Amino acid sequence: MKKTLKVLDLFAGGGGFSTGFLQANHPNLKFEITKAVEINQAASDTLRGHLGPEKVIQGDITNSNVKKEIFQSCGDIDVVIGGPPCQTFSLAGPARSGTKEMREKLKNDPRNTLYKHFIEIVDNLKPIFVVFENVEGMLSKKVDHGGIENKQVQVIELICDELESKGYSTKVEKSLSERFQVLNAADFGVPQHRKRIFIIANRLGIDSPRLEPTHGPEGCPYKTVGEIQHLPVRLPKISISKKLKNIDVITDNYNKSLSLFMRNIKELTDKENHFVIRQGLKKLYHKLNKEYNLIKDKKTYKFNNLSNFIELYNELVKEYGINTLGENQFLANHQSREHNFRDIIIFVGTKQGSNSSRFMNRDSEDYNEFLDSVYPYDRSKHRDTYVKQSWNKPSNTILAHMEKDGLKFIHPEQPRTLTPYEAQLLQSFPSDFTFCGGRNDQYRQIGNAVPPKLAKVIGESILYVYDKSKTTLSL
Ligand SMILES: C[S@@+](CC[C@H](N)C(=O)[O-])C[C@H]1O[C@@H](n2cnc3c(N)ncnc32)[C@H](O)[C@@H]1O
Repeated sequence: MKKTLKVLDLFAGGGGFSTGFLQANHPNLKFEITKAVEINQAASDTLRGHLGPEKVIQGDITNSNVKKEIFQSCGDIDVVIGGPPCQTFSLAGPARSGTKEMREKLKNDPRNTLYKHFIEIVDNLKPIFVVFENVEGMLSKKVDHGGIENKQVQVIELICDELESKGYSTKVEKSLSERFQVLNAADFGVPQHRKRIFIIANRLGIDSPRLEPTHGPEGCPYKTVGEIQHLPVRLPKISISKKLKNIDVITDNYNKSLSLFMRNIKELTDKENHFVIRQGLKKLYHKLNKEYNLIKDKKTYKFNNLSNFIELYNELVKEYGINTLGENQFLANHQSREHNFRDIIIFVGTKQGSNSSRFMNRDSEDYNEFLDSVYPYDRSKHRDTYVKQSWNKPSNTILAHMEKDGLKFIHPEQPRTLTPYEAQLLQSFPSDFTFCGGRNDQYRQIGNAVPPKLAKVIGESILYVYDKSKTTLSL
């Protein structure tokens, strides 16, 4: 029988960290999740579904009753893991680009101090190991440290100091002074570039395990977006703005837009492997092509022509189930969100692996005059709005922001952004893992998670150093 190390997962989200720890392999040790604490309803429902309802404390970690419940139920905990919310430290978003007022508001955001509650809980439970995760942006986060000089210190260094003052070693093995590691999930077999900070602290007085990349230039080849290539095609519903504003930008390029769109549907039809979906795509293409032939040579753009075309397309997508059909129940979360026609044309026209900064840059080999002319945003402020993934590279970082829009996560071939199920697989969640809540809740839980495959590697490193220390320290 394997000895079990008991884990408390704080700020547990949809359970990426826990899932990876439960997957960790070792000949005579394993992890068990004792409790997972989470405030959000949908994420707590996901946790209940995977860990069991009795394992989940749904509530605010800063609340004294919640803390009491944690202390009462986690007396003999061995490991505390967690990643307090990171919005205010994020390298993207208002923390960097917002107005002065927004930045001021973020500075005083109570989420800035959630890590203190994490440390308070650690100090109370005194687990053997602590694993703290956060965004790379935390490295640039400084706070006043008081003292005569009122020095500003990095929050991450402060957290390490705090842990050390409570009896934890944070020093990383084979180094003189490193106390945390910046790990890229792609280096550990996750098909996604995702850099995050990890502190792995322990009360055994030993060095923290250093995690050496297993994938990349000096290891196995990177896993890539090709990991989702087997999934059935999804075609999005196309929205028609009543004010025409989404369509307006393509009116001058009406014929070109339609022909790009039709060519894309034809290519997808020819390639599709799933029999039922291929049959549906063939019928859709055939009927849509008739309508296309009627309107394609009209010299001037007429809104009605285009809106009739889109309406027919939407009916056909629905009739042939091309946003819903699949072979198993888990594909329920493999459904595209709705897009407007302008975005769809940009998706289709962008080269695989390229983005809007490149297609608008005359010096880039991806420069595209047509896409440049239809780009709808203020290019002096936002040039990198659209990013198209590539089959043969890891994806860019899957973000919770996908709940707002997915324009940085355009499918390599299909005229849409990634579905929650595709994001789940690129985050290395198991293919039979299900997320609760609506589509936006799912994107948020997935984008927030520690990729289970990376969490598994971290978990295993802990099991190995613990096992070794038992022999050397005769625990
Ligand atoms: C970055 S996510 C954690 C993701 C998680 N580690 C995983 O691997 O899936 C942070 C989570 O903390 C939760 N949260 C935020 N404030 C909280 C609070 N005061 N108490 C409990 N949970 C909180 C959020 O709802 C969010 O799900």
